[in-house]
Amino acid sequence: MIKRLLSYIIPIKIYEKTSKISNTLEVSWNNGKLVLDSKNTNYSYGSLQKVLRKGLIEIGFKDINQMEEILVLGVAGGSVVKTLVDEIHFEGNITGVEIDKNSIEIANQYFGLSEIKNYKTIIGDAKDFVSKTSKKYDLIIIDIFEDNEMPAFLFQKKFVDCCKQLLNINGSILFNTMILDEKQIDRNNAFLRLFEKKSFYCKTFSKVEYYNQLILIERLD
Ligand SMILES: C[S@@+](CC[C@H](N)C(=O)[O-])C[C@H]1O[C@@H](n2cnc3c(N)ncnc32)[C@H](O)[C@@H]1O
Repeated sequence: MIKRLLSYIIPIKIYEKTSKISNTLEVSWNNGKLVLDSKNTNYSYGSLQKVLRKGLIEIGFKDINQMEEILVLGVAGGSVVKTLVDEIHFEGNITGVEIDKNSIEIANQYFGLSEIKNYKTIIGDAKDFVSKTSKKYDLIIIDIFEDNEMPAFLFQKKFVDCCKQLLNINGSILFNTMILDEKQIDRNNAFLRLFEKKSFYCKTFSKVEYYNQLILIERLD
C-alpha cells in the first residue's frame, strides 16, 4: 500500500528479471497502477494499454462483443486481454501467443492473467504460430516488440499472407507499430500496400501516445 501511494510521486520497481527478448522485464507501481516495462519502453498497463484501447474503440465495443475468436500476438502482461474482458465484457475465446515465458509468469503472478476463464496462452513464436494454425479469427491483435524494436518479419509478405489466411470475412487486424524515423514511415506504407484494396479496407491512426501508429485492417471478402 505504501509503495502504491509513493508511486504517485516516483515509480517504484517491485520486480525485475533479465530477458533475452526484452533486455529486462520490470514490474513497477506507477501513479498507483502496476505496470510492466521492458528496458526502454512500456509493455503493458501504461500507455501501451491506451494505444490498443484506442484501436478497440475504433473497431467498436459492440462489434467486438459479437465476435467469437480473438488472437493476440504478443501478450507481455496481457493488458489488452484485460481491456477485452473487464471493459468490453467479451465472452468469446481469446488466444494469446507469447515467445517469452518469463513475461507470462509475470502476467500470471502480478496481473492475474491465468484467472481469466475465456483466455489461454500459447508459449511460442508468433511467426511460427500463424504459419501452422488452421483456426480462423474475427480479430487479430498484433503487438510484438523486442524492447522498443519491431522484428522485421512483421512487415514481410509471408507473415501478412498467413494473417490474411487466419482472418474471417469481416474480421479485423489491429496492428500496433512504433514510428521513430522516416524509414519506419516507409516501412509501414510498404506494409499497407500488401493488402489488396478490393479485399481489405485499411485505416491508420498516427501519433497515438506520441510514437505509435495503429493500423486497422478489415477483411471485406
Ligand atoms: C508490447 S508487449 C505486448 C503487450 C500486450 N499486447 C498487452 O496488451 O499488454 C510485446 C510482446 O511481444 C513479445 N514478442 C516479441 N517477439 C515475439 C514473437 N516472435 N512471438 C511472440 N511474441 C513476441 C515480447 O516478448 C513482448 O512480451
